[in-house]
Amino acid sequence: MLPALPDARRDFAVATLLDGRVMIVGGRQGIGDGNLVGAASSVLLFDPRANTLVAKSSNGFTARHSLGTAALLTDDGFKVYAVGGYASTAANTAPSTLVEEYDVASDTWSSVAPLPSARAEFGIAVTGRINKGEPIQRMHVLGGNTGSLQTPGVSGSLFVFTPDGGAGNWKTLAMAITPRRNLGAAGVVRGAFPYHVFAIGGRDAIGAALTTVEAYVGTTSQVTPTDPTTLVATPLTQLAGARHSFAIGASNNRIYLFGGIDADGIELATTFELNPAANPAGGTPGAPGVPSGAFTAKANLPSSRHGFGVSSATPVQNFGPVASTGRDERQDAINLWIQHRVRALRAKNAATDPLVAEGRTLFETTGLTGVANVSCASCHGGPKWTRSTVDYIAPPSFDLAHGDQEVAAAELRKTASQPGTLPENGVLVDVGTFDSTRLHEVRVNPADVGARIAALGANGFNIPSLLGVGTSAPYYHDGIAPTLDAVLNGSADGFGASTLRTIHRVVDVAQRARLIEFLESIDGDTVTPP
Ligand code: HEC
Repeated sequence: MLPALPDARRDFAVATLLDGRVMIVGGRQGIGDGNLVGAASSVLLFDPRANTLVAKSSNGFTARHSLGTAALLTDDGFKVYAVGGYASTAANTAPSTLVEEYDVASDTWSSVAPLPSARAEFGIAVTGRINKGEPIQRMHVLGGNTGSLQTPGVSGSLFVFTPDGGAGNWKTLAMAITPRRNLGAAGVVRGAFPYHVFAIGGRDAIGAALTTVEAYVGTTSQVTPTDPTTLVATPLTQLAGARHSFAIGASNNRIYLFGGIDADGIELATTFELNPAANPAGGTPGAPGVPSGAFTAKANLPSSRHGFGVSSATPVQNFGPVASTGRDERQDAINLWIQHRVRALRAKNAATDPLVAEGRTLFETTGLTGVANVSCASCHGGPKWTRSTVDYIAPPSFDLAHGDQEVAAAELRKTASQPGTLPENGVLVDVGTFDSTRLHEVRVNPADVGARIAALGANGFNIPSLLGVGTSAPYYHDGIAPTLDAVLNGSADGFGASTLRTIHRVVDVAQRARLIEFLESIDGDTVTPP
């Protein structure tokens, strides 16, 4: 059971922190125009790990409804922004330019730079931090109501807020979306850099619900943050049915829409997933690399509703800011069990076998395969049969300008101490096992799941542990070597110019056989080379 809200509400705002905690801010309650949610429960924090919903300080937060919130991870920690909205429930209330910043660590509110112009019922989305082009998180305010609820006016303006440790600053982008209010907005990477901000549905000047889906990129440059000046040109898949006032969330680069109100004013229970990296089945595809986006119907809400909020599930991923620790007790229990109860299979060869002992000597012999001062143990030595270590503080920064690490797609290319020189020549070591022309070296285009792009691997691979290696054929990242003999006879090497690319080639058949005897003796009891 999840905790219930302390009191009923609608037209509030929800923001999800990168660590999965959820802020619920403002809103109103009661029938008709209703009343603003009172100070005692107008700022709530839901912690999915502890499954607690607690009231936070509302001292400095101006109560309002139909506002927007966004959570940004800034250099000064987590900040949640409460933007615009109506500070009274009277139908003739004009919208606000107020932007108030909540510091999650200190539980305090302060005012920051106001909106360039007053808004309520807008879409709000976050872009960044990814790559040099989007090094920090920014929030985007899309469209919205420029008037009161009684006399609405619609806008297509796009405002972007950049936090700077002080009041921050707002910028108005050069282009606009179709003017509308009660739309949904979300920022996701379409599989790969950069972020795409989507503006979905809403209602126009006369209050008619829209099927419109528009998008723009967070930056147009990989290298320097550069604002876009046009919406993306790709024809985007539009909503199958018009809707407004729905809840919108994003997870794992997909956007989710829940409920809302349709063109006939009927409240909806339907939910949809938008995958911006795919083309719709039977719909109009985009050009290769720029798909038009596919909507898939998902399980309905238990009941129809509108004017509510959803959180965005933060995915557990290798380079994500938080590991799964504490998220699910069962997952942690499995981790513990693997750490303490799972061991490598008993190897078939005994350490006392003379051939094994000879193989071990060869394993530790420098220059064996022609690279001075380097032995098998230089790379595969150490307590876990690899010198590979974690030498960065998770999560690694997405680019060197903002940290010592560089992540490119799934590759951790650089860390503080690497690349270095032999034998510590990088997290990834190119030992000649990658050949981009081999047909099985494929990588799906993350920006278009139907297209293929050049495989990763030219920078080499993380050095694998050799614990239990006698039982884990086939070998290498792509399993190209079916036996240990195939690893060491050079048949899988690229034979490139660099000597490292033939590091596994042991030409002498007798030496190879002894090395294999040794490799087949490595289990949990084998003493590791220093
Ligand atoms: C410069 C560092 C380096 C040296 C020296 C080195 N290796 Fe490797 N080794 C690697 C890397 C990197 C891979 C992974 C390559 C891949 O997956 O394509 C690897 C893969 C292997 C594998 C396959 C493991 C698996 O699970 O797929 C074996 C077995 C192996 N090495 C044994 C040896 C032996 C024996 C020697 C000495 C003759 C040696 N290595 C020398 C870096 C090194």
